[in-house]
Amino acid sequence: MNTAMSAPRLPPTLDEVRALLARGRYERAEIARLLETRDADALDAIRAAAEAVLLRECGRKVYYRGLVEFSNQCALDCHYCGIRRGNPGVRRYRLDHATILDAARWCAERGYGSLVLQSGERRDPDFVAFVEQVVRDIRRATVGPRLPRGLGITLCVGEQDEDAYRRFYAAGAHRYLLRIETSDPGLFARLHPPAQRFETRVACLATLRRIGFQVGTGVMIGLPGQTVTQLADDVLFFRAHDIDMIGMGPYIVHADTPMATWPDAPRDAADSLRLGLLMVGVTRLALRDVNIAATTALQALDPAGREQALRFGANIIMPQLTPTAVRREYRLYEGKPCLDEDREDCLRCLRMRIHMAGREVAVDEWGDSPHARRRTAAAQPTVGTKNGANT
Ligand code: 5AD
Repeated sequence: MNTAMSAPRLPPTLDEVRALLARGRYERAEIARLLETRDADALDAIRAAAEAVLLRECGRKVYYRGLVEFSNQCALDCHYCGIRRGNPGVRRYRLDHATILDAARWCAERGYGSLVLQSGERRDPDFVAFVEQVVRDIRRATVGPRLPRGLGITLCVGEQDEDAYRRFYAAGAHRYLLRIETSDPGLFARLHPPAQRFETRVACLATLRRIGFQVGTGVMIGLPGQTVTQLADDVLFFRAHDIDMIGMGPYIVHADTPMATWPDAPRDAADSLRLGLLMVGVTRLALRDVNIAATTALQALDPAGREQALRFGANIIMPQLTPTAVRREYRLYEGKPCLDEDREDCLRCLRMRIHMAGREVAVDEWGDSPHARRRTAAAQPTVGTKNGANT
């Protein structure tokens, strides 16, 4: 860990932030500087600039991805994560096929357009075959006049080999989210056991892209020892890897994990929230046309955390579809919100919150990012409907 003591810089003034925004150059030094902002007016200037870019590049719509956390069985042991293999306090589950299909049908009927299947990480043949089958059946079961191609499916099931990724893609998943957690290999190494390698994760992102997936990644924000320069490098990593969608959120301690005892664990929720929102804002400013999720971890820090993220340039929300009976068993961090609300409650509550943020909810659309649509269109210049409207 870097223990070199240097005098902390003063946070930027409103004038400095305005000058940086006016210049519009978002490289390492500029992004890192913006991430040091604390002044309320300066924060709002960044927010307003990011919101303007969002509205210009992506429009007002917020896209839903119904979130099904279908299994907490996990072969990995990430030092920060509540469902790590080494936590014996978790009751392990895997939803059955019928329950997942029921959630998918509900999602399609409510007009969500897309679904995220997320789980702990397993790579055994049974798991891969299960995911493949579920993806295929969801696409089939949700085709109808409103969704001619069925639900859009994003997978979030971790590092897999190329064959598994190809099977998932062929079965009908077209987006894949695999967080790198941090773009700094040294920090990554501190967060994970040696068998889990940063290079493997980056290679997985390249494989996913080559297969044809729209690729998402993301990081945790406010990790012990993490600097604003490292966070700026995370944003540059997203850009360098031509990432289509970003899911990132504040690191939040989980008591039953090794990192809970680290001396420099984050303690101040307001400060974690500030940094999380700033990351959403600067990512919007630097990348412009990608999808950015207002993640649940932001909401864990503040009941209005996700709406604030929408106002800082996020355009994706993942309403909970995981059955309440198992939701408590999928706690990656403490304070996870909405453990008891059923999916109808989540739907009503979210719609109101989105309208309050001055935005509208997209209905029956896949909601691929303009970034992904542009790249696909550039790669396949033939005329057709495939790359145009979402539905
Ligand atoms: N705090 C915040 N995010 C976490 N994740 C896992 N544990 C935590 C935590 N304690 C995130 C990781 C992972 C995603 C599924 O959840 O970024 O990739």
